[in-house]
This record gives sequence, C-alpha cells and structure tokens, in this order.
Amino acid sequence: MSLPFCESYKIKVVEPLYLSSKEQRIKWLKEAKYNLFNLKSDQVFIDLLTDSGTGAMSQEQWSEIMSGDESYAGSRSYYKLKESIADIFGFSYFLPTHQGRAAENVLFSTIIKEGDIIPGNAHFDTTKGHIEFRKAEAVDCTIHESSNTSAYHPFKGNVDIGKLEAVLQSTSRAKIPLIILTLTCNTTGGQPVSMQNIRDVRRLSEKYGIPLFFDSARFAENAWFIKQREPEFNAKTIREIVKEMYSYVDGMTMSSKKDGIVNIGGFIGFRDEDLFRKASTFNIMFEGFISYGGMAGRDMAALAQGLKEVIEADYLETRIRQVEFLGQELTEAGVPIQLPVGGHAVFIDALKFLPHINRQEFVAQTLAIELYIEGGLRGVEIGPLMADRDPISRENRFPEMEMVRLAIPRRVYTNLHMEYVAAVVSNVFKRRESIVKGYKITREAEILRHFTIELEKA
Ligand code: F0G
Repeated sequence: MSLPFCESYKIKVVEPLYLSSKEQRIKWLKEAKYNLFNLKSDQVFIDLLTDSGTGAMSQEQWSEIMSGDESYAGSRSYYKLKESIADIFGFSYFLPTHQGRAAENVLFSTIIKEGDIIPGNAHFDTTKGHIEFRKAEAVDCTIHESSNTSAYHPFKGNVDIGKLEAVLQSTSRAKIPLIILTLTCNTTGGQPVSMQNIRDVRRLSEKYGIPLFFDSARFAENAWFIKQREPEFNAKTIREIVKEMYSYVDGMTMSSKKDGIVNIGGFIGFRDEDLFRKASTFNIMFEGFISYGGMAGRDMAALAQGLKEVIEADYLETRIRQVEFLGQELTEAGVPIQLPVGGHAVFIDALKFLPHINRQEFVAQTLAIELYIEGGLRGVEIGPLMADRDPISRENRFPEMEMVRLAIPRRVYTNLHMEYVAAVVSNVFKRRESIVKGYKITREAEILRHFTIELEKA
C-alpha cells in the first residue's frame, strides 16, 4: 500500500487548551459586547481568528532568537535579514517595520496623496484603511468569479485585466502612484493570483508607467498554488517561482506575521534606491532607525530564517493540505464555503449559511458568534463590519460576500483539532433555522471599526 501523507515536523513544546461550558461562553460573549476580538484568549478553545503572528517557530528560529544582535545601528541580525530578502525576492533595498500595516503607512506616506487612485485586487482592510485615511481611493479590479463561492476558478485572486486597463486609461498617470496586487488575496478567501495574471498586470504597469507592488503577506502560499495549478510551473521549485513573481514588481510590502512565520514584524522591499531613500525618512519617524524599524534584532534574525523555511515544499504541502482537510470536512457536511479552499483559511459563505437573517443585522457576525457559543471556536467576520462605512455617505457598506473566516495558524493545530472545528460548524449548520435574529451596533470607530465595535442583540 502507498504510505499516507503526514506532517513534515514533530512537536517539541506544547501549550494546554481548556474547554469552557456553553453557559460560560454565553456570559463572556455578552461581556465582550458580542465582539470576538474582546474575548480573552483563555476563553477560546480553538482560535482561528487569524493566521497572523500566531504561528509556531522552528527550533532553528528559536536559536536565532538567542543569537539576535540588539545593536541600534548595523546589527548583525539586520544584515541576516537583508541577505534573506535579497536572496529570495531579489531586492537590494529594504526597510524593516514592526508589522505589515506599518510598512503600508511608511510606503503610502511617501507616495500617496489626496485624490489618488490605487487599483488592485480586493485590497486588505488595513491597506484600504491607509489609502482612505489619505483621502485616496482603492479601486477593486478583481475578476467577477471571486464573489461566486461555489464556482470553481483556480485563481480567484486574479485581476480582471480589462477592468484594470479601463481604470488606467480613464485616470491621469499623476493620480495613480502604484498598483497593488495582494498575494494571496485575503479578502476573496486566501485566493491565489496566477503567474500569467501577474505578467499581464506587469504589462499594463509598464505600458502606463505605473509602479507595481505586491502586498506579500502570503507570497509562499501563492507560489504553491502557481506550482500546482499552472502547468508551466509544475516542475519548478517554490524558490524559482517566487523569484519569477518578484521579477515583475518594483517593490513589496510584507506582513512577516504570516509567511515570515514570526510573531511580529514586517518590511518594505524596493528596487529603486531613490524611493528607498525617501521612504527611509518616514521609517525613521514612524518605526525606528532603518536597521531595525520597530523590530528587535532577535526578531529580525528569526524572520531571516522563517523566510527560508516558508518556501520549503514540505512545509508548504503540510500547510496547504491542513487547510484543504478542513475544507473537505466542511464540504462533506454540506457547509457552503469559498471553493476552491484558499491558502490560509476556510471562508464560510454566511449569506448561504443563514440566508433568512436580515443583512442589516450582520449575518456573518451572527454566524461567528454562534460558532463560538457552540464550541469555543473563534473565527472572524469578513463582511460589513470589516468593510466600514462609506467615507462620504457614511452608510454601511455591504460587500457582495459575507464570510466567516477560519484562519489556521501555521504549525499550531493538528488535524484532530480540524475535525473538532468541522464538528462545531456542522452542529451550527444543522440548527441554522433556529437562528433568526442578528445584532445591531451600539458603538463604533470611524475607521477599521470591526476591531473595537460593540454590539447588542437586534
Ligand atoms: N496585507 C494583508 C493581505 C493582510 O492579510 C494583512 C493582515 C496585512 C496586510 C496587514 O499586516 O497585520 O502585520 O499589520 N492581516 C491579518 C489577518 C490581520 O488577520 O488577516 P499586519
């Protein structure tokens, strides 16, 4: 018999988990104003709120932590990170930042001004937040297939080239400081962008003379899908695929908390020295000196190592197969999810799961709350709460899709945990018709409101 696939690592350090009772969870939720971000982590059994900064580091990364160099300027750990970034992405210039949104803040402070337009594929909420905060506009040019969860498309993160070209044609060059491609596209379900699409976007960026940047949080997962789904790349290594992906761009922002497999950190990579120098001033103001940018030396060293591990095929296969496993379990239980399953998470289609709930009462949030009550499982709403209000009309924005994202931390949970998660979701699915009311907002921030929002039963 052929031997089954199994994980490419074993576990050396463990952290206990405690399961609470349903009664406790109902009480805690009320105290948390029905915002799952307000729960204490000890009140959560399986935490799939995010895959960001929640991964487990390897023994090699922990040994880098011990040998990190904490010098303010010119730290050895900075040079280790510089070498990894140059080697993997091909950028000679980079700025460390404390996380991904800080990289966005520094880069956008350098190049975005009021009235600008930044086209891309469903920008992540912090990216959009940083754009709108500067009174600029993020224009979503994602292919229409992305918002049909049951239609198969191998690259639901792709840009619609016609839509993008229409934006580039109808806007003056001076108003478009950059195009941003998010790899994988978190907002549409951790969905990849194909190499062909990257090449097509590059062609337009060159034709119109507009720089192209990758929001790179899950670049390695994207490369894995290119290897699996684009025949030209089946025999290529992940390292070769990543090299080609980055040969088409002028720079990158990175949240290292995802495909850097560290708990905190980020950076910006640049091809152009001039832009790097301009951005350095903002980095020094907001983040710290250019050789640490808000990161401890030890964290830069662990990141330098994490970037090498994340592009190993064994690691990526283990990672993606676990996400697929949860997707399969849910599909077998009849639960509507974004298909195919993305790289870092399973996205439940809340509008199909609870079609009878009024959208004004926040369907995906209602579902996320029920999952927590059922089994102490924490996911996150990707819907109108996250989408914020329209900056001009101040009306709630209801995106085409409302999802509950179950994001799987890297190297943290086992497949038995995934079976537990599937059972929780499937129990709620069986009793879905008994869930009839949603929630209303009692307090909210003007921007990025979902983190701190307060709700009560509608
Ligand atoms: N870009 C993408 C695609 C992201 O998913 C995130 C964060 C960021 C940028 C910002 O990075 O958190 O380091 O400041 N995503 C997290 C998530 C929060 O849960 O998906 P950050």
